Amino acid sequence: MRLGLVVAGLALLGVVAVASLQAAGPKRIVLQTQRTSAQDLEITGDVPGIPAGQSRFVRYGDLAGLAQVAYTVKDDTNFDGPVQLSGVPLTELVQELGFTGGKQLIAAICTDGYEGHFTAEYRAVHHPFLVLKLNGKQPGQWGRSPDQEPYAPYFISHPFFKPSFSILAHADEAQLPLGIVQLRFYAQDAELAELKPPANAPAATMQGDRIAFQNCLRCHRAADIGGTKSPFGWPQLALIAQGNASAFGNYIIQPNRVNPEATMPANPKYDAATVAALTAYFQSAGGKP
Ligand code: HEC
Repeated sequence: MRLGLVVAGLALLGVVAVASLQAAGPKRIVLQTQRTSAQDLEITGDVPGIPAGQSRFVRYGDLAGLAQVAYTVKDDTNFDGPVQLSGVPLTELVQELGFTGGKQLIAAICTDGYEGHFTAEYRAVHHPFLVLKLNGKQPGQWGRSPDQEPYAPYFISHPFFKPSFSILAHADEAQLPLGIVQLRFYAQDAELAELKPPANAPAATMQGDRIAFQNCLRCHRAADIGGTKSPFGWPQLALIAQGNASAFGNYIIQPNRVNPEATMPANPKYDAATVAALTAYFQSAGGKP
């Protein structure tokens, strides 16, 4: 009955109405059920039409068919100088995946266990985009970063990056994952609530939470979100912070002063208050993720 009415309406209104009806609905990019190439981007998480626990795959060619942005990027620390980058804004991808409400938190998961995190607020301020072409070239010709990490299959960059907030000595930091193989989507508010200390926690603990989300979570895992580059997840960090707060603090500022073999990046700009906030957060988070 309803379909009959729509068809009749279309017949009356003509082609213009058809075009506007299509534009009004959620757009959909083609999702494959199987991986057919190492260049396919895996999509997981809480996505319309993807059953819980399953993956879908998007082909490079289908991503290249979406509206592209292009910039000369001068401040991406994964490059020694300016580069021409083009690709698809993460915000556009969210729409193409058919989300209709709520906020999405996107985790970009890399081959080496590193993970970048993109909240709705971060996307609105910094306009991160999934790069499809580097200096006009396709991923097979991209090579490696100054740190010898492969850029392919995907990486994320920004038109430029200007920090939009600071918390104690932590300034808003660009999320620049390389070698992305998967994008995982989370319902943002629910996921952030998982990481939060209790509402009555001291201000420093709350500040530590926000810093840990942007920094530590890239390599240390908290339950169902976070990098796996470090073998120590949130519960282990909580135990260390509770058991030896000064070693915990020293490790954050200059890891290789504590452990000569350390590979974790140093945070030389963090002052005592910033380290205290992180320590308070992890001490309190013991019973959480
Ligand atoms: C770029 C990845 C990365 C980031 C970001 C990162 N870590 Fe680490 N972290 C590691 C790795 C890898 C190790 C394992 C030891 C090593 O190689 O340094 C580690 C080890 C540690 C340890 C020592 C565990 C032990 O007893 O040996 C502590 C404590 C720690 N991290 C805390 C933090 C905190 C707090 C943050 C955020 C402020 C953070 N890390 C951010 C990668 C990272």
